[in-house]
Amino acid sequence: MVFTPKIAPSLLSADFSILKQEIQEAEAAGASLFHVDVMDGHFVPNLTLGPFIVKAIRKCTPLPLDCHLMIESPERYVKAFAAAGANLISCHIEIVSEPKTLIEQLHALGIKAGLALNPDTPVERLLPYLALLDYVLVMGVFPGFAEQVFIESALKKIEELNAFRHEHALAFEIEVDGGLRSSNIEKIAQAGANIFVAGSAIFKNKPYDKTIQEMKQKIHGPKQ
Ligand code: DX5
Ligand code: ZN
Repeated sequence: MVFTPKIAPSLLSADFSILKQEIQEAEAAGASLFHVDVMDGHFVPNLTLGPFIVKAIRKCTPLPLDCHLMIESPERYVKAFAAAGANLISCHIEIVSEPKTLIEQLHALGIKAGLALNPDTPVERLLPYLALLDYVLVMGVFPGFAEQVFIESALKKIEELNAFRHEHALAFEIEVDGGLRSSNIEKIAQAGANIFVAGSAIFKNKPYDKTIQEMKQKIHGPKQ
């Protein structure tokens, strides 16, 4: 199975005083979707945005909105994010009490369902749900902040997920988030990922098309 490579700029690093312009520039530069980091100040030590802002972002682009919920009790909020215009929603396996119910809830709302995995959470935690998921989000950093350094052990997790997917003929995509740069995207792609989230690497380096095109050129899929 071939998984299309997609660059997902993380809006957390964009300039929110000119958000529409930032979104449109990244879209013109070759973004495939936008990653939206939702933090609650409890699950992670940072506070960001909620459905109200997602609704505003929805008006700025036709591209899919990928909401990464780093929040407690995500099942209480997915309906609001869906109504605001989210297309994909990932929640953290570390805090979801009933993953199967949550995935069913997302699918009933017409949302692509993902489960996210922190750097210190083993891939095994996800195995019972992989057949139900549209994607897995492998964290390359501990969630909470942009501009951190990629933790190399994430590569092994991507490889494990890719091997499991191949062995069981599953179709979930593998998204990687945190610490991505043009300098490490090649090995992340080779490990088996196809959705690449990048915040500071894109939004802190103008022009955006230079970075995004450079990233795309470096992406080669896994060998198998
Ligand atoms: C971290 C967020 C990431 C972050 C990525 O908690 O989930 O999406 O914004 O930022 P960079 O690409 O700068 O590591
Ligand atoms: Zn994220």
